[in-house]
Amino acid sequence: MTDADKNEMIVTPWEVKGKIDYERLIREFGTQPLTEELLKKLEKHTGELHLQIRRGLFFSHRDLDTVLDLYEKGTKFVLYTGRGPSGPVHIGHLVPWILTKHLQDKFNTRLYFQITDDEKFLVDDENKLADMTRYGYENALDLIALGYKPEDTFIIYDTKDIDLLYDIALEVAKRITYSTARATFGFQESTNLGWVFWPAVQAAPCFIHRKLTGENVPALIPAAIDQDPFWRITRDIAQKLGYHKPAQIHCRFLPGLGQGGKMSASEPETSIFTIDPPDVVKHKIWNAFTGGKGTAAEQKKTGADPSICTIYQYFTYLFEEDDEKLAERESRCKAGEILCGECKKDLVVRINKFLAEHQKKREKAKDTLEKFHIKR
Ligand code: TRP
Repeated sequence: MTDADKNEMIVTPWEVKGKIDYERLIREFGTQPLTEELLKKLEKHTGELHLQIRRGLFFSHRDLDTVLDLYEKGTKFVLYTGRGPSGPVHIGHLVPWILTKHLQDKFNTRLYFQITDDEKFLVDDENKLADMTRYGYENALDLIALGYKPEDTFIIYDTKDIDLLYDIALEVAKRITYSTARATFGFQESTNLGWVFWPAVQAAPCFIHRKLTGENVPALIPAAIDQDPFWRITRDIAQKLGYHKPAQIHCRFLPGLGQGGKMSASEPETSIFTIDPPDVVKHKIWNAFTGGKGTAAEQKKTGADPSICTIYQYFTYLFEEDDEKLAERESRCKAGEILCGECKKDLVVRINKFLAEHQKKREKAKDTLEKFHIKR
C-alpha cells in the first residue's frame, strides 16, 4: 500500500478511514454548511451557542433552517439520534449526545434514541447478537448519565422494540430500490440480506412520533456525518409517506489519541472509554500524539503545532469551555511557552474529573434505566 492509498478518505456508516476532508464531504454528500446567518437564528432560541457549535465541531446540516422556521411558526420538532452498541462507549461517542441534551433543554423537546444491536450483529461476522444486546443496555447508562429528562427521552432497543418500528420500516423499505441502496451504501454481492434491509430500520424512528402521539412534526437528527447516507434515502421517501423530511445537524469525528483517524473502540489504546479508571486515562493521554517537537529545547525555540495535536482538540471540543483560556493555550503552544507534558497533565486532570462524575451518574442510571425505555 502506498501512503496515498493509506490516506484515501473513506466515509460510510460502517467505515471511516484516511484524512477527512470535511469540505469535500459537504460537496459529495450534498449537505449545507452551517452559516453565520443560520447560527444567529439558532442563537435566538438557545442563547449563547453551545461550544460544539461555536467551535465548528458541528459544521453541516440539512434543513435546520426549515425546522427553525417551522418552530417559529408553532410547529415543534423531535430529536432523534442513536448508538450502534458494538462495545463500551468512549468519549467520542458522547459528543453528539452532549449537543442533543443541550437542544432538548433549550427547545424542551422529545428525544428518540435508537440502540441498534441488530445492525451491529448484521454488519460484522464476529459479533454475536446477545453480546450486542447486552452492550445496548450498558451503553444506555452512558446516555442517561448525561442528564437527559426521563419524561422526554424514549430509548428504543431494536430487537426488543421492533414491533414499534416494523410497520414503518416496511413502508420505507418498499419505496427504496435495491439499486438505490447499493449505490448509497456500497453493498456487494456478498452483503447479507439482513444488512440490505437494515437501513429501513434506522429510518423508522424518524417517523415514529406520529404513530405514538398523532402529531406530524419533523425530526432533527444530531449525528456524525458518516450517518448521512441513511438520511439521504429517508428524506427521498418521507413526503411520499406523508411525513416531514427529517433534518440533520452533522458533526466531525473526534480524533483518536493516535496520529490521524477517528477515535475507534477497536483501537482501545487510542480511545478513552467512559469506564476507564484514572490510571488508564493517564497512561493513554501520556502516549497520545501531539503537535510537539522532538526535543524540549527545540520546542521552546520554534513552538509546536496545536492544529495537528490530539490533546488540543480534546480541550477544544470537550474540556475547555472558556474561549479565552483556549486561545491562550493555543498561542502559548505556538510560542513554545508551554510544553506537551503540561497540556497532557492538565487534560488528564480534566478528563478524570469528568469521568469520576460520569461514572457515579452511570451507576445511578441502573436504577432509572426502565424509566427511559420507550413508552407505548
Ligand atoms: N447506525 C448508528 C451507529 O452505528 C446507530 C444509530 C441508529 C444512529 N440511529 C441513529 C446514530 C440515529 C445517529 C442517529 O452508531
